[in-house]
Amino acid sequence: MAAMQKKRIFLSPPWVGARERALVAQAFDSGYVAPCGPMVDAFDRRLAELSGQHAAAVASGTAALDLLMAELGVGPRATVISSTLTFAATVGPAVKRGAKPVFVDSDSATGTISIPLLEKALAETRRPAVVIAADLYGQCCDYDALEELCARRHVPLVLDAAESVGATYKSRPAGLAGIAAVYSFNGNKIVTTSGGGAVLSRDPELVARARWRAQQAREPVTWYEHREIGYNYRMSNLLAAVGCAQLDRLPEILRRKRRIFAFYARLFGQSHVPALPFPCADHTRSTNWLSVFLFPSETLRDRTAARLAAANVECRPVWKPLHLQPVFAGCRVYGGKVAEDFFRRGLCLPSGAGLTRADLARIAEAIVG
Ligand SMILES: Cc1ncc(COP(=O)(O)O)c(C=O)c1O
Repeated sequence: MAAMQKKRIFLSPPWVGARERALVAQAFDSGYVAPCGPMVDAFDRRLAELSGQHAAAVASGTAALDLLMAELGVGPRATVISSTLTFAATVGPAVKRGAKPVFVDSDSATGTISIPLLEKALAETRRPAVVIAADLYGQCCDYDALEELCARRHVPLVLDAAESVGATYKSRPAGLAGIAAVYSFNGNKIVTTSGGGAVLSRDPELVARARWRAQQAREPVTWYEHREIGYNYRMSNLLAAVGCAQLDRLPEILRRKRRIFAFYARLFGQSHVPALPFPCADHTRSTNWLSVFLFPSETLRDRTAARLAAANVECRPVWKPLHLQPVFAGCRVYGGKVAEDFFRRGLCLPSGAGLTRADLARIAEAIVG
């Protein structure tokens, strides 16, 4: 008889439970089964506390970026400068509006966008509409350097903090830089609302406009009056209930994520599989949203990935740099080799806050056994 396949261990599944269920029931019973209501308002307030900025909860991180591109008037003929080592959604909304992306490599020591290469890109790009810098795997970019550079060039800076919710840059919360930032609460993120995101800014007017655009840009009169066409992007009250419960357990999620990362670091430190943690600068305290390790070679990385796959454990290479994506063929890139090297040698390991000791032992056995 064929051996029974063990239960699959996923890369970063949601960690939800009784608290989420109770708040969803509360939202349901309130009658606000709609993209407005007390839970959305409460989630906005909780996000503002967490991020140190004004906040508007929306349907996804991608929607949040789209709202910011609308705010900045990004359209055909605009150029946006972005990190290359990130998810496609960092530039997706700008590109959908007809903008041309220019990509910037990672810094080999910090993993996030290279400041000297960004400086070169800014010097050589004619009136870029925006710089979108992406935080990575739970850690923040160099916000001070980004702000200084963008201010000097008079280019708005947007932080794609989809992956860094709960992290800090020096003593600042993730995303507290530039004109605005976005968070993501997708099912795989550190805080989930199943799908969701937020627009964040120190500018209350900007967030108010994003909230207005996310609700069909309706004028404040009793009939439907529109001076602009908006979007239907506001978060559902039911999903905001999940978000409120997740924020209650964020400290525990962070403890668990960091413990999982330390477990892998110990495992690789003591074993014959010599992988090193993905770079992380001293200026940021990572959440270790995903535990990412760099192997000495692509062959060794692939061998480990194959062993995990055989054990029914999900893992994934580091982001494929955007300048290598077929959809962005021909786009300008500054540098690129560092991100390409991370893509070749990097592996994201299971990092779900709900991983048990037994799960971790099974993963360790697959890696080094
Ligand atoms: C860096 C980055 N930007 C944007 C997004 C898009 O967020 P969402 O999936 O909530 O639309 C994600 C994740 O999915 C991401 O990792």
